[in-house]
Amino acid sequence: MSIDYTQRIPNNVDLSSDRRLQRALENWQPRFLDWWKDMGPDGTLNFDVYLRTAISAEANGWANFGYVKMPDYRWGIFLAGQDPNRVIAYGDNKGKPVWQEVPGELRSTLRRLIVTQGDTEPASVEQQRMLGKTAPSLYDLRNVFQINCEEGRHLWAMVYLLHAYFGRDGREEAEMLLERHSGDPDKPRILGAFNEKTPDWLSFFMFTYFTDRDGKYQLASLAESGFDPLSRSCRFMLIEEAHHMFVGESGVQRIVQRTCDLMKEHKTDDVRSLGAIDLPTIQRYLNFHFSVSLDLFGQEASTNAANYYTMGVKGRYLETRIDDDHVLTDSTFDMDAAENGRIVRKTVPALSALNERLRNDYIEDCARGLIRWNRVIEQAGIAFELKLPHRAFNRRIGAFAELHVSPDGKVMSEAEWKANEHKWLPTDEDRVYVTSLMGPAVIEPGKFANWIAPPQRGINNQPANFEYVRFN
Ligand SMILES: [Fe+2]
Ligand SMILES: [Fe+2]
Repeated sequence: MSIDYTQRIPNNVDLSSDRRLQRALENWQPRFLDWWKDMGPDGTLNFDVYLRTAISAEANGWANFGYVKMPDYRWGIFLAGQDPNRVIAYGDNKGKPVWQEVPGELRSTLRRLIVTQGDTEPASVEQQRMLGKTAPSLYDLRNVFQINCEEGRHLWAMVYLLHAYFGRDGREEAEMLLERHSGDPDKPRILGAFNEKTPDWLSFFMFTYFTDRDGKYQLASLAESGFDPLSRSCRFMLIEEAHHMFVGESGVQRIVQRTCDLMKEHKTDDVRSLGAIDLPTIQRYLNFHFSVSLDLFGQEASTNAANYYTMGVKGRYLETRIDDDHVLTDSTFDMDAAENGRIVRKTVPALSALNERLRNDYIEDCARGLIRWNRVIEQAGIAFELKLPHRAFNRRIGAFAELHVSPDGKVMSEAEWKANEHKWLPTDEDRVYVTSLMGPAVIEPGKFANWIAPPQRGINNQPANFEYVRFN
């Protein structure tokens, strides 16, 4: 079904055929816009931004590019197409048709999953709301706004499900999604990483590389859900999400590029004196964002995850491409675990280890960007390698939270860890330095802040010096 833009709420779910639902969502819409004005990108109400807007929910040719005033962005409800033959691919209900309505016994489980996912979307907009003030270029400014708009749309995607399928409870949850705020001491966002600050652009690129990628893996496993409307919502969100991770990967790469260029040109490691970000600082930011993102996958051993799978609510990454019985009651899984203060290899029932399996898929994916970043360093002839820290490093959730582990996986005393922390995680001094580089936004088309290289190509085949944002 194509997207109807003549409606107050653009959608491809035939919203006008359900007047009650339409009215409920039209009541929520001004509340969303108020939230956007208060908590969305600061001071941007008059900007015209070169944004993509979804015009179809198919992967090919789905987006249209043009200037949009951000509060006029057409946030809407877009689900990927329905496959009438889709069956549940795993668990006790394997082979049965997917559900078009919420099964009564899964109501609270599904609601909790949808709320938890939905909560991350506005949270990241809140975390990023001041970044426009210090954008290193118009190109980057446009990218953060694009991401903000799409995270707002992802909130819409989850709120639609809550309103359409969860009655009064769902409507209350939709209200709460606008009432919790990132870092709010009284009403914080649900997950830890979404209450951290994103105060500078190095943090932003690390966040979009590592934390948006957690989103990719959560969405991909929810895209396997037996609850078909959730699956279809997530499948379209994944198409948008790819750009967010691209912004992160290319952003870090451009910082690394600039640093290496200056190191080579001036034959020095001391790029701070040249106004760039040194490689060890980049490594420390990487360590931080990777470790807090790992926590988002939850406990290694999880009966919740096993139940979600067995009930057909949440699958594995690319479930249908995995070659096994998709029931897993007789399968095992090998993983690292904490035991008597040490890291040991353990064989556990596969069903209990689904969080850890998803975390493995995520770590493998994270490593790919580092290969590209390291290629830049290598091509500059510099002897330095960015590394992913060990999965047990700096964890707050799961079995490793009780251990003190170095980035290369060595277990140590708390005292030894503390004595080395400044080498591994961003220090106050690092943060002060990186923040000091964040000058006023660079708003001349084609100009870039000193600490970052221009992109190799622009957005939608536009040049890097395109006027991506117009100020009015
Ligand atoms: Fe999102
Ligand atoms: Fe995202």
